[in-house]
Amino acid sequence: MRIVHSVAEFRALRPSLGHLAFVPTMGNLHAGHISLVKAAREHTDQIAASIFVNRLQFGPCEDFERYPRTLDEDAAQLEDAGVGVLFAPDEQEMYPSPQRYHVEPPIEQVSILEGEFRAGHFRGVATVVMKLLQIVQPDIALFGKKDYQQLMVLRNMVSQFAMPIQVVGCETVRAEDGLALSSRNGYLSADERKRAPQLNAELRKIRTAVLDGHRDFEGLQESAAARLDSAGWQTEYVRICRRADLQPGNAAAAEEARVVLAAARLGTTRLIDNLEI
Ligand code: PAF
Repeated sequence: MRIVHSVAEFRALRPSLGHLAFVPTMGNLHAGHISLVKAAREHTDQIAASIFVNRLQFGPCEDFERYPRTLDEDAAQLEDAGVGVLFAPDEQEMYPSPQRYHVEPPIEQVSILEGEFRAGHFRGVATVVMKLLQIVQPDIALFGKKDYQQLMVLRNMVSQFAMPIQVVGCETVRAEDGLALSSRNGYLSADERKRAPQLNAELRKIRTAVLDGHRDFEGLQESAAARLDSAGWQTEYVRICRRADLQPGNAAAAEEARVVLAAARLGTTRLIDNLEI
């Protein structure tokens, strides 16, 4: 695997890479990221990945500084999984001067769910992903459904800017106890790690209830949040939404495709999860 740190070097290499799939990451990789690389292999044998911890998508009180930087271990995993080129720019290379142009996603997509609690987050994600896509120029880009709202925003961005890129959403990878894999799970204490699967368990209860015909969505959301809070979580949201645009699910619509999404803090760690219904 070739590791490329500069935009100029990636550009020079790009014509030799042919039909290219791209897996952007912030590093500190786990089986979820590797599953994206495996999914990429179903589309092409030329795979690029990137590792860049993007300051723009972190709020002032978020974990940018403590986000684990584990380039050597990450590179070894990517190489084993079949990545041919790793783009790993430093901050100076990605943002040689303060980034003054931004991709501003539509307000209705980013004022809800994650956007309610992480102002500016999706602007930061969309801006860096736009920049990465301009540099890497992939034919296919793969993102995990774990960040469901991010996937929706990025799909929409690629479509609205008529970028010739196929966006592929990949299933969330979970630990045996149901906890969605996330780089942030590493922040959990041993006790919190034992309790963390409750978030997924609550989503599964809601999915079962909706599939069984329960139509009091507000009641289902509120009782899941109450159970989490009384178990020591600080719940930010539990919402049943329409899959297409993540607007509130319409309990009366028989054929609506839905997803239930949640975010909650356990100690100082903020976890998110979702389940398609
Ligand atoms: O999902 C992530 O890891 C990040 O948000 C991404 C897409 C790599 C942009 O920094």
